[in-house]
Amino acid sequence: MADARLAAALLAAGLAAAVPARAADLARGSQVFALHCAVCHGPAGQGGIPGAPKFNRGERLLQSDQALLGSVRRGKNIMPAFAGVLRDREILDVIAYLRTLQR
Ligand code: HEC
Repeated sequence: MADARLAAALLAAGLAAAVPARAADLARGSQVFALHCAVCHGPAGQGGIPGAPKFNRGERLLQSDQALLGSVRRGKNIMPAFAGVLRDREILDVIAYLRTLQR
């Protein structure tokens, strides 16, 4: 019963579709970021190379997780494609981590 009420409340709030199937793993997101992303995006997301968004300022992060996932999968300009290198779940973990860098 409590579950049904919670589901109804989430639906009413329009949040059901936004609830991920599984919570993001921020620790793994941070590891993947350090390994694959920090070289260009900077260890604190402050930007490492010209043209890389500064995640610590929230740049590009107004897009949905799905939109960002698509960009990281396909690559963008000099950013290489990560499809086949990282699983979608790992990319989503990094995206969740990126959202914690803003200050
Ligand atoms: C070789 C350097 C490089 C690496 C490695 C790299 N990026 Fe990027 N990334 C860039 C640059 C440059 C841009 C800006 C691309 C543009 O819009 O011209 C960018 C853009 C982005 C964007 C914004 C995409 C959009 O749609 O606006 C995201 C999110 C992102 N990177 C995440 C990551 C993640 C996560 C990783 C590691 C898995 C990563 N990047 C690794 C250079 C890099």
